Amino acid sequence: MKIDHIGIAVKKLEEAIRTFEALGFKVKEIEEVKEQKVKVAMLPVGESRIELLEATAEDSAIAKFIASRGEGIHHIAINVENIEKSLEIAKNSGIKLIDEKPRIGAGGKKVAFLHPKSVHGVLLEFVEG
Ligand code: CO
Repeated sequence: MKIDHIGIAVKKLEEAIRTFEALGFKVKEIEEVKEQKVKVAMLPVGESRIELLEATAEDSAIAKFIASRGEGIHHIAINVENIEKSLEIAKNSGIKLIDEKPRIGAGGKKVAFLHPKSVHGVLLEFVEG
């Protein structure tokens, strides 16, 4: 298994990018994921990445997260070969899914979230490929 990325909720993407660049990280790409109402910056770390997320709407999950918990680690994403199969295995193990079916996330990849209540408080994301 490998960690695809760690998602961090931030108030201002530009400010967060400056902070991480000061620490030696480099931005590989910035994109808007309209479906999830976020602007995303990807900063590679070895074979993994840091995903900085800024809300683009007040009803974005990231805006809600920051309103209740403040900035910080939002989710951990792991790579899976076949996302439908992984979702089925998780569901059959009694894990509550947020996404019964994959949706399109950053980079046009198929993604799906598992409910943190079923994963010891961690919002887990599957990323195919
Ligand atoms: Co993510």
